[in-house]
Amino acid sequence: MDNFEYQNSTCIVFGKGEVSKVGKVVRPLGSNILLVTGQGSLKKSGLYQRIRSLLEEEGITVVDLDRVQSNPLLSRTRDGIKMARNHGIQAVLALGGGSVMDTAKAVAVGAVMEQGDVWDFFTKERTIEKALPVVTVPTLAASGSEMNGFMVLTDEKSKHKLAAGSPHLYPKFSILDPTTTYTVPADYTAYGGVDAVCHLLEPYFNGPAPNTPLQDRMAEGLIRTIMDATETCIKDPEDYEARATMMWASSLALCGLTKAGVGHHHFPVHLIEHAVSVLFSVAHGAGLAALLPGWMSWRAHDHPKKPAQFGERIWGISGKDLSEKAEAGIDALRSWFDSIGCPKSLSDIGIRNEDHERLAENAMLQAKIWGISNTYSVENIKAVLAHCQIQ
Ligand code: NZQ
Ligand code: ZN
Repeated sequence: MDNFEYQNSTCIVFGKGEVSKVGKVVRPLGSNILLVTGQGSLKKSGLYQRIRSLLEEEGITVVDLDRVQSNPLLSRTRDGIKMARNHGIQAVLALGGGSVMDTAKAVAVGAVMEQGDVWDFFTKERTIEKALPVVTVPTLAASGSEMNGFMVLTDEKSKHKLAAGSPHLYPKFSILDPTTTYTVPADYTAYGGVDAVCHLLEPYFNGPAPNTPLQDRMAEGLIRTIMDATETCIKDPEDYEARATMMWASSLALCGLTKAGVGHHHFPVHLIEHAVSVLFSVAHGAGLAALLPGWMSWRAHDHPKKPAQFGERIWGISGKDLSEKAEAGIDALRSWFDSIGCPKSLSDIGIRNEDHERLAENAMLQAKIWGISNTYSVENIKAVLAHCQIQ
């Protein structure tokens, strides 16, 4: 196990009906807030109106930043920063999925910048030093943004989708009320399961520390649980226990706890998926489903040990040599993606061999920022993509 420092500054308020506390949670942070929402699903379900009245009951004035799209755009964040400055916003409340939460975080840091543009934090030209307080009410179990210091935005001009991280990005509070996810459709329920599994598997495979039995078991336990809960939620969208399990497990999957001690690692599948999302407008979880098995296969070639362990412990595969066990585990994961209605290859999401070059080129900016462009060079990313193409 490697050395590590671990701190998570988000207060989690979890459970059925807890969303009714939103006014009491937000009021101490400010009486004039920006409410960030998506493209209408929560107005349709009535949750948006409920949140608005709970805030007004506490005397909180609200400025709306709505119409945040999936794979959120830098331009909408800049709109939000202008609103926050013009209205003297004191706190930012995110009501929605990862796209809404990441936009809220970006507005919270952009609104208090003395100079420069919020995109400077993504290209690493500037470091985040402060932020307005953020509260999230996640309505989709997937990204884990409700309990971490990350955010991901797309600059539609340069066609880059980049991540940024800072301790200042942790929400002060996140209210996780599983009933808010009852209306999530089957496809996004499945994509959320894939995203959370990928958040666990990337440190599991990429962490360099040689001896991590505790971290392995935590990840394996969460993966198995997420897979079962995803299937139940797809069958019965209002199964409270399954939605609650999915919500808490997807927060834990990227809150840093399960990977503390695995050593310095990156998220190469996310690196490539962000290029897929920005160039082909694919939902994040769907892109990951198309990429993860192929990437595992590419990596298992030189590093079969962990994929073989994954095959053994998650799928009960035994009696073969390491590479055979690894491949059998990867095939089982690919069939699971198929069984929950997810893509299982690049051809399933309309990407062809001739697209690989520009996908790999697009991923290079993030690879350089993350310092992994040697391992994830254009040539190597193209080799990974070839493993993900299938037909
Ligand atoms: O926009 P509306 O109309 O609200 O519909 C949304 C959207 O279409 C819908 N939705 C959300 N809650 C719902 C609901 N529909 C019905 N009922 C509800 N309760 O779901 C659709 C997808 O929403 P989105 O926020 O895009 O999904 P997700 O939560 O998967 O977030 C994806 C974004 O998170 C980023 C991804 O890159 C992507 O941009 N990530 C953020 C991370 C982080 N900050 O730590 C890490 C992740 O790896 C990920 O990269
Ligand atoms: Zn993700």
